[in-house]
Amino acid sequence: MATLTIAGAGTFTVDDGQRLTTAIEACGVDIGHRCGGRARCTTCRVRFLEGEPSTMTRAEYEKLNAQKLLGEVRLSCQILTAGTMHVEPLMRVETMGWDDPGPALDPEVQPEARWYPIEALSAGQGEDGAAGS
Ligand code: FES
Repeated sequence: MATLTIAGAGTFTVDDGQRLTTAIEACGVDIGHRCGGRARCTTCRVRFLEGEPSTMTRAEYEKLNAQKLLGEVRLSCQILTAGTMHVEPLMRVETMGWDDPGPALDPEVQPEARWYPIEALSAGQGEDGAAGS
């Protein structure tokens, strides 16, 4: 089990290894996921206050890098629950004025389910066969 604290919502015990977006939503927080959890929209972005993973999918790295958000936020659709995490969801249905959060997420991380050390991605590694986990 993992301990998930969501700013403004409370602390919850959640299953390990589920997509963080899904876990946040299951705790009653209307976090966005406008691309359905495919590392395209960034509406699932969160700020980590504790327990930020030191690894990323290449898809998350490339999207955050392109949007100049590296080091600022993480994409919760690309992260699995583990240990103790404390996050602040930054784009929510209520605050953004959306009709809904977006398409439901698949249980598995899309488009890939491999994580690499962030330093390896910054160094241009993280291709298949290099520094994978
Ligand atoms: S980037 Fe779209 S839901 Fe995560």
